[in-house]
Amino acid sequence: DEHYSGDAPLAGKHVLISAGPTQEKIDPVRFFTNHSTGKMGFALAEEAASLGASVTLVAGPVSLTTRHQQINRVDVVTSEEMYQKMHAYFPQSDIVVKAAAVADYQPKHAYNEKLKKQSDDWRIDMERTKDILQSLGNLKGKQFLAGFAAETTHPVDAGIRKLQQKKLDAVIINDLGADGAGFGGDTNAVTYVNSAQDKQELTLKSKQAIAREIMLLIARDMKAETT
Ligand code: CTP
Ligand code: CA
Repeated sequence: DEHYSGDAPLAGKHVLISAGPTQEKIDPVRFFTNHSTGKMGFALAEEAASLGASVTLVAGPVSLTTRHQQINRVDVVTSEEMYQKMHAYFPQSDIVVKAAAVADYQPKHAYNEKLKKQSDDWRIDMERTKDILQSLGNLKGKQFLAGFAAETTHPVDAGIRKLQQKKLDAVIINDLGADGAGFGGDTNAVTYVNSAQDKQELTLKSKQAIAREIMLLIARDMKAETT
C-alpha cells in the first residue's frame, strides 16, 4: 500500500460513492434485484480513502465489509432509499461516483402480507424508478459527477450518450460481453471517458487496481477543470 500525507491526491475531498444492487419489494418474502455484488463500488471507496479522501459509501444489500476508518457506510435496500441518501449527502460532496446497479423498475404495489399462489400465471405491474444519477446531474454545482454504464452493444457509443444525457464529468463503461469484465468477478476492464471525450482504456486487472486508476483519473480531471 502507498502512503500519503497532506499532499495525497484526494486529501481534503469528500467522496460519495454508491455500490451494489437495490432490492425492490414485492411482498415480505419476494423482491426484484440484479447480479451486482458491490465489489467495484467498495473497491472505489477503499481506494478513494487510501488516496486521502473522506468517503461516504451508500451501499445496497451486499455481503462485503470495509476496512478503512475514513469510510462512513450507509446501508440502503430500495432504489427510493438510495435516491434519498444520495441526495442527502450530495451537497457536501466534491466527487460522486455512482457504481450502484439501481433497479430500473419497481413493483407498483408492495404488499405487507405474503402473496398466496393462485392462478397458473402471475403478472406484476411495474413502474420506473427515479434515475438517481440523472437527478444529481440536473442539480450539479461544484461536484465532479461520475457514473457507470453497463452495456452489451456498442458500449463506448452508448456510454458517451449516458455521459451527455446525465450531464456527467466522466463515465466508466463496462462492456458486459468482454472477458473478465462486469458483474461478480474480482477483475474488470473498463473504458473511462471524460467530458472532453478523452478515452482511457483500463485493461483487464483486479477491481481494486481498476478502482485506483479511476480515482487517479478523477483527481487528474478535477484539477484540469479548476485550472
Ligand atoms: N442509475 C441511477 N438510477 C437509476 C438507474 C441508473 O442512478 N434508476 C445510474 C447507475 O448507477 C449508473 C448509471 O445510471 O451509474 C447507468 O446505469 P445503466 O443501467 O447503465 O443505464 P440506464 O441509464 O439505467 O439505462 P439502461 O439500463 O436502459 O441502459
Ligand atoms: Ca439501468
